[in-house]
Amino acid sequence: MSLTKSGVIEQLKGVIYFAKGDNIVDLGMLDELEVSEKEIKFRLVFPKLGEPSVNIVMNLATKALREAFGEEIAINITPIAEKEKGRGPLAGVKHIVAVASGKGGVGKSTVAANLAVALSRRGLKVGLVDADIYGPSVPMMFGTENEQPGVFEREGKPVIVPIEKFGIKLLSIGYFVDSSKALVWRGPMATSALNQLLSDADWGVLDFLVIDLPPGTGDIQLTLAQSYSVSGAIVVTTPQKVAFADVKRAAGMFKQDKLTIPLLGLIENMAYFSPEDMPEKKYFIFGQGHGEQFAKELGIPLLGQIPIVEQIAASGDSGSPIALDSNSPVTQAFDAVAASIEKMF
Ligand SMILES: Nc1ncnc2c1ncn2[C@@H]1O[C@H](COP(=O)(O)OP(=O)(O)OP(=O)(O)O)[C@@H](O)[C@H]1O
Ligand SMILES: [Mg+2]
Repeated sequence: MSLTKSGVIEQLKGVIYFAKGDNIVDLGMLDELEVSEKEIKFRLVFPKLGEPSVNIVMNLATKALREAFGEEIAINITPIAEKEKGRGPLAGVKHIVAVASGKGGVGKSTVAANLAVALSRRGLKVGLVDADIYGPSVPMMFGTENEQPGVFEREGKPVIVPIEKFGIKLLSIGYFVDSSKALVWRGPMATSALNQLLSDADWGVLDFLVIDLPPGTGDIQLTLAQSYSVSGAIVVTTPQKVAFADVKRAAGMFKQDKLTIPLLGLIENMAYFSPEDMPEKKYFIFGQGHGEQFAKELGIPLLGQIPIVEQIAASGDSGSPIALDSNSPVTQAFDAVAASIEKMF
């Protein structure tokens, strides 16, 4: 094999970046390649540095090049993050914030949707990704079940155009497949769907990209933490102790050194019941002060307490998140959460 740029590229096409399931050349990770008699020098652009996969790929690339061009040649690879290079589909996204919980049905999607709306009401540019591949809810919550994102081609690759509603850019697997089919996806299929929603979409410039996670601590959470530069996670709980046990497990996952996603705070959903006609009344049906106690236990701030109100459940089905309604006391709660989040960055 002759030592030329095209010879080097040919060899590097044999190096797979497993996180994205393709070779480093076709993934566009190769940058500033220089080849001389004595040295092969290039940069590799990764979605995120500090992951074990960075060293693995660099070692594989070095090995492939040594095998092809001999042991004497100097190989100089510099890893660089997409953000640093100011490119990549998420280069224009300032902050990715994930909404997580160990438990299903505690209101993650409700919080994610209304937080997105509340951030947008503050004049920020906001996107929302429904990463719940198994049970997408964003299409219905935003009344966009019958819409389909556009697709165009850039450098020979398809790029998805998020749907825009109430000024928020939305993507969900629910726009592409029947949700009953998505439910059976597991492992690699689910993570590759998440990668497409995040990396193959035209997000443009955003202040916040909110991610609605599925419950638990599975592949989706792991992929997000390992392959993307997430600014922080918000954890949602209900006041019941059983819910918190699961929430604690999820929080523990984000706290692991390897993952390093900072926990921004806790939201206590269904904290108390307020009747529609007497919004000043608060009935703490699951007990009072649990949110504060849970937040203290996790060592993170309590960002908000969201009451149980009929209108929240109704707005989830009607396609218009409650935080759009300026007169609702719930909107004030979400506005306060959005204000705290904005202040953190
Ligand atoms: N504060 C609330 N008051 C009344 N209803 C609520 C409240 N929060 C959530 N709900 C309702 O509870 C149901 C579950 O909420 P949601 O879908 O947001 O939970 P989730 O944690 O995302 O669930 P999943 O684990 O299935 O993704 C929905 O019907 C929603 O409208
Ligand atoms: Mg959900």
